[in-house]
Amino acid sequence: MNTRLFHLFAHPELVQNLSKALNCPAVPIHIHQFPDKEIVVKIDVECQDKELFLLTSLEDPNSKLLALIFAAHTLRQYGAQNIHLITPYLPYMRQDKVFEPGQGISAHFFAQLIGPHFDSLVTVDPHLHRIHSLDAVYPIACQTLHCAPLLAKWIKDTVPNPVLVGPDSESQQWCQAVAKGEHFPYMTLEKTRKGDRRVDIQAKHLGRYSEHTPVLLDDIISSGHTVLAVCQMLCSLGFNPPIVVAIHGLFAQNAYEMLRPHCQTICTTNAIEHDTNQIDLTPLIAKALKGLLKAS
Ligand code: R5P
Repeated sequence: MNTRLFHLFAHPELVQNLSKALNCPAVPIHIHQFPDKEIVVKIDVECQDKELFLLTSLEDPNSKLLALIFAAHTLRQYGAQNIHLITPYLPYMRQDKVFEPGQGISAHFFAQLIGPHFDSLVTVDPHLHRIHSLDAVYPIACQTLHCAPLLAKWIKDTVPNPVLVGPDSESQQWCQAVAKGEHFPYMTLEKTRKGDRRVDIQAKHLGRYSEHTPVLLDDIISSGHTVLAVCQMLCSLGFNPPIVVAIHGLFAQNAYEMLRPHCQTICTTNAIEHDTNQIDLTPLIAKALKGLLKAS
């Protein structure tokens, strides 16, 4: 394929798989940090590409933002025309309203900060809740990919007689999409967030699913307290530790260690590199990127 896959902070396995699937070379972008902590971006090659992909991984976004923007400038400095940003996890999307008086809406600010440096954005299941489409906040063309069929396949192949359990109304969309093709039963619970690490889940009577294997399904695991609260609720209702499936495993601080004893298995996609990655997003992303090149 007549393009290149530049990468910065990206998941190495995803870089390799995508480069193979697209039949195009993967080119690293280097960052040098000076003793005073300023940085410089360096690319190894001339960059006359009409279209190029920049694959990144934007968990812990504050530590990466400046380098990402400098990378876009550097690629253009050496001749790049259209830069398509591929970030399987899109950060800041949960900050989609003023939750407390005086707060800013970070989802908008972040979109305005990175959008103008790229020509298009490709991402996987961003947290679209109160913001219904990325086009409402990003000033560039955006492609939102959905990995529900991949999650459904993993659940079908791995879990006997599953019932999907979403922790809150926000997870309804993912439960519905995953349940659809395979006709899995699903239900969503009621969550009240009382703080960054304080979550209450309203227990629901799951009696009619007592013969099923609960699969806790969510888009993001961050502090892990949402998953923990659901596990505790299921345990109080007499269920075995559930299987947990999430798209984006952020696992802030010790979240993974905290959750492990409460779950039978934790499965995530490789949107973010983690030991729990069991679902490969390569086919989904590769198909979208091939479509982008065809359209260009
Ligand atoms: C929120 O609406 C999301 O869908 C997740 O439920 C949430 O981000 C999980 O956060 P934490 O792991 O910190 O409870």
